[in-house]
Amino acid sequence: MSETTKTAEAFELTEELRQSPFMRACRREPVPYTPVWLMRQAGRYMKEYRDVRARHTFLEMCKQPEVAAEVTVYAAHRLGVDAAIIFADILLITEPLGLDLEFAKGEGPVIHNPVRAAEDVKRLREVEDVSSLSYVFDAIRLTRRELRPDLPLIGFCGAPFTLASYICEGGGSKNYVNTKRLMYTDAGAWHALMSLIARALSRYLNAQIEAGAQAVQLFDSWVGALSPDDYREFVLPHTREVIRNVMPGVPVIHFGTGTAGLLELLKEAGGDVIGLDWRVRLDEAWQRLGDVAVMGNFDSIALFTTPDIIRQRAEAILDQAANRPGHIFNLGHGILPETPVENVVALVEAVHELSQR
Ligand code: CP3
Repeated sequence: MSETTKTAEAFELTEELRQSPFMRACRREPVPYTPVWLMRQAGRYMKEYRDVRARHTFLEMCKQPEVAAEVTVYAAHRLGVDAAIIFADILLITEPLGLDLEFAKGEGPVIHNPVRAAEDVKRLREVEDVSSLSYVFDAIRLTRRELRPDLPLIGFCGAPFTLASYICEGGGSKNYVNTKRLMYTDAGAWHALMSLIARALSRYLNAQIEAGAQAVQLFDSWVGALSPDDYREFVLPHTREVIRNVMPGVPVIHFGTGTAGLLELLKEAGGDVIGLDWRVRLDEAWQRLGDVAVMGNFDSIALFTTPDIIRQRAEAILDQAANRPGHIFNLGHGILPETPVENVVALVEAVHELSQR
């Protein structure tokens, strides 16, 4: 048996996982090549995913641990990436909060009883324990058993703001009118909502770690809608609280999009790794961030081109990272449904080859 380090009661971090390129990069240690994984790597762009999806609704897939584990493991092994991310969704936590979640055909997620005012916040439930999400923890345990033993598994949640945006809008949004109206007109209700979400997320992330996740990611996908002052006042304290409560020693990736005006504040909120979208130069963003690892930031749309163009564009990002310890290669946001799988594989291979030290 290899040497082990205890990170959680239920799960021992093996030396093999601890020394994997992904985990080393999270700790800003030197790596033999740049680790790469891709947001939304298990999804509709893969035929094998669509075949499973044809037999289940999306929520059923999330709630059947064998199915979620199968999809997670298949994608990671097929692509040859350096980490897997558990198949789940940031919105699953809205159910134990007392919200009525549906993934409607062709519409994306819908919350049928959105929060619009203080009295709506009061009817939400404190998520005292996260056992109603046990299907996620079961999927993590199963995945950990089926995944190559040297591949780290990433757990995740939505960050408080992005979740609050779905909860206030009742779905996706362009302008976040309901979210910002609550924020601007009733700061008390807003902070009550955000801290309720943050408490639930802390418990949820630590339960994912106990089940076998080696690292966790917060997705603040829509945080770029905020001004720096609003982020500092209405969001930062809550995101910081979630990150501060993650079990010590477990790397946290803090990702957002549209964050060019917010990078220093994101770092202040916390995280061992800051996830960058494609709208910033990686070298300039890293310079602003200073002593933290970075993840990113290949434009997902470039996957719709050719292996040659993909390779050139990957090289441009690796050049900006310049072999400094602490770069995890990823997209600037998720893979889109129509992306050719062979181009995704070409990207992973190009990153490995071009970054061999
Ligand atoms: O990365 C992975 O492979 C792990 C799985 C994962 C999913 N959602 C599966 C999913 C992860 C990490 C997420 C996170 C998520 N979910 C985010 C943050 C990431 C981001 O892209 O910003 C957000 C905003 C959501 C909310 C959500 N879930 C939306 C907006 C949608 C609809 C998307 C669409 O294009 O229809 C989902 C559904 C969803 N989540 C799918 C998958 C594979 C598609 C479901 C289907 O098969 O119909």
